[in-house]
Order: sequence, then structure tokens, then C-alpha cells
Amino acid sequence: MTKFAIKTMNAISPVGLQRLDRDRFDVGTDIESPRAILLRSADLHSVELPPQLYAVARAGAGTNNIPVDKLAALGIPVFNTPGANANAVKELVIAGMLLAARNLYHAADYTRSLVADQGLSGKELELRVEAGKKKFAGFELPGRTLGVVGLGSIGVLVANAAQSLALKVLGYDPAVTIKNAWQLSPSVEQVTSVEELFSRADMVTLHVPLVEGTRGMVDAARIALMPSGGVVLNFARGGVVDEGAVLAALDSGHLRCYVNDFPTVAGAVHPRVIALPHLGASTGEAEDNCAVMAVDQLSDYLLNGN
Ligand code: MLT
Repeated sequence: MTKFAIKTMNAISPVGLQRLDRDRFDVGTDIESPRAILLRSADLHSVELPPQLYAVARAGAGTNNIPVDKLAALGIPVFNTPGANANAVKELVIAGMLLAARNLYHAADYTRSLVADQGLSGKELELRVEAGKKKFAGFELPGRTLGVVGLGSIGVLVANAAQSLALKVLGYDPAVTIKNAWQLSPSVEQVTSVEELFSRADMVTLHVPLVEGTRGMVDAARIALMPSGGVVLNFARGGVVDEGAVLAALDSGHLRCYVNDFPTVAGAVHPRVIALPHLGASTGEAEDNCAVMAVDQLSDYLLNGN
């Protein structure tokens, strides 16, 4: 029996890989002419597609690292795993809001530096800790407004969870029909324009895919609509935000903080940016869920044509 060869372009959770029937599949990173590619964040745009490729599967929700139009024209399906890592991203968004509200990232850096860089200890350390903490005073969440842009599987979870922190939550989705509307808490207020959301939200969190309509959607004009002292959280994709506009708003003090999971050089060194290394889906649970969902779709397609 001929085996299907699957090339993995990233480390994929073994919990997923072990579901592949080894009598039917060869799986590895160095396969020459794979019938399928299984990947996470590797960039498939810059890779020559192997001949006789049947399918591509991504253990993740976004597909912007895959030439989907080119593959569609060749009749090659692309599978992804929407929802499989939504809880992991939701938890990181909530953590990001709290980091920003209480200046935790910079405060921890301050104490680390007192000891590691300045060698302080004992009474001297205690005095400097007390003297320095004033600049890290934060704000509390109840009564503030969070705007959630994109009400897919992640946005809905974020919107619902934010309500348990007594935030007022606004939701906006560019799609006319929201797929997950039935899951959305009725007390999330849906607004009909992104401008309204920006003008009313103290914090804005982004949960849209990177497509032509969303590229650069957080621009200078929309940031200017936000009340002063706002926070932007980007766990969607770097390209959704005009980073130059965000950095200018941070410099002017109009924005208080930018929490960004897709750091650039300019962003990573900015004192008001919390730059994370694309950690949204990086939990053991999410990696297992994504791998299982991707592998099951791929296997079903290759073996049964579904
Ligand atoms: C996603 O699109 O779901 C994430 O980028 C997944 C990942 O971090 O690999």
C-alpha cells in the first residue's frame, strides 16, 4: 500500500501526530515530495510548492502565512483550526489588559533592574522599591469600556470573559452575519461601526484575520477617536495595526499602552509597548487541540476525500 507523505514545517504536538495511522502515513521534516504539508507559523509564501501536493493544513486559525489563493486556483484545499486555540488567546488578552492597567511588565522590570543591574539589597532595596512604585500606579477595570473588534470564536470568548471583570463591553464585527452570535453574552453591546467602537472604548482588542479589509484598520484617525489614555491590544496580526500611528499616539500620551503579540524592532524597544513573542496560542492545551483538529482534517481528506 502506498503511504501518503506528510511534511511538517513546524513542531506539531505529538498528541496530534500520533493520531496519524503509521501504516498509511509517513511524517517528517525532510520529506522530498510530500502529498501534504502540515505547519504552524512557517511562511509557505516563500517556499516552492511541491508537485502533486494534495492538501495543506495549519495547526492554527490564521492562514496569512499560506498562499491560499494560489492553492485554491490549483484546487488544493487548506485546512485550519478556528476555535481550537481560542481559550488560550482569551486568557492572554485578559492577562494583557491587567498587565497594561497595572503597569506590571514595566514594574517587574524596574524591581529586577534594582537588584540585577544596580546590585541593591536589604534596606536600600526596600527604600528604592517604595520610592519608585508611585510611577507604576494603575487603574481598575470596573466601569471602563472594552471594545472587541471581531466577534469570531476568540472575540466572543474575550467579550464574555471581560464582563466578569465588570467592564462595559462593546462588540463590532465587519461581517454582516456573526457566526458565533448565539454564544455572545446578551449584555455585550454590538455597535454598527468601528468608529463608534473606537470613540467609546478605553481599551480596544483586535480579533480579526489579516485580509485586505482589515490591513492597517487601527490607524491614526481611529486612534484619535479613543478617549485619552487608551490601551490597544493586538493578538490578531501585526498588519492589522498601523504601528507608526500607534507609536506616535504612545509618544504623545494619547495612548497609554500597546500590548502587541507581533513585535517589530521599533515596537519592542518602546517603553510603552508590551511586546510578546507571538504567544497567543502557546499553551500545551492549545497546541494539542490545534494539532488534533488539523491532523484529523488532513487524514480524513487524504484517506476519504472529505
Ligand atoms: C493562530 O493563527 O491561531 C496562531 O497564529 C497560532 C499560532 O500561534 O501558531
